[in-house]
Amino acid sequence: MRLFLDTADIDEIREINRWGVLSGVTTNPTLLAREKGDPEIGWKEILAEVEGDVSLEVTDLSSADAIVQQGTHLAAMGPNAIVKVPMTPAGIEAGKRLTKDGIRINVTLVFSPAQALLAAEIGAYIVSPFLGRIDDAAADGMHALRQICEIYEVQGYETNVLAASLRHPMHIVDAAIAGADIATMPFEVFAKLVKHPLTDLGLEKFSADWAKLQDELKGGA
Ligand code: G3P
Repeated sequence: MRLFLDTADIDEIREINRWGVLSGVTTNPTLLAREKGDPEIGWKEILAEVEGDVSLEVTDLSSADAIVQQGTHLAAMGPNAIVKVPMTPAGIEAGKRLTKDGIRINVTLVFSPAQALLAAEIGAYIVSPFLGRIDDAAADGMHALRQICEIYEVQGYETNVLAASLRHPMHIVDAAIAGADIATMPFEVFAKLVKHPLTDLGLEKFSADWAKLQDELKGGA
């Protein structure tokens, strides 16, 4: 399962990229608004920093034509640019047209297996079910993800399932077990993947024992 960062913060992206485990980035209008700067500059910086897929979301949703126009512009920003379109009638119409033009799309704001079926049928490169937000609505996001993965497997769809709106490390573990192709998460969740209290305790003990040995050696010299 590929691991993506869900952020538009270039410093967060650079830090996780240094670990050598970052396969891509997802952005959305909310994440870009948080950074305050010109989105075009922000996207370019991220596209240059990351080797893998970077999702850039369309914001002109007035018609399918408008989505195709903006999507074509976003796709031209870099070979690793993936165009995010929303799961709406205009979004899937535009998504199908972009796909036909050879542009890779990510269908976003997906909350049900029925919507995921539509994304696969238009030949989307990625479908993004929002697990955490399904949980927020008192339903079972992981169950929806499992159903989507099963449908894609049974039907032989090649669309990549990207588990989004992930809030804690067990979301990532369960998404991997369910067979998701990609998991995208905020920096805080990524940072938690590396942490375990027993690792910290183990290190403390190793350091203390090593220091004791050095003292003994010095004392014996
Ligand atoms: O990028 C889309 C998705 O991951 C958003 O997550 O936490 O705002 O529901 P969240």
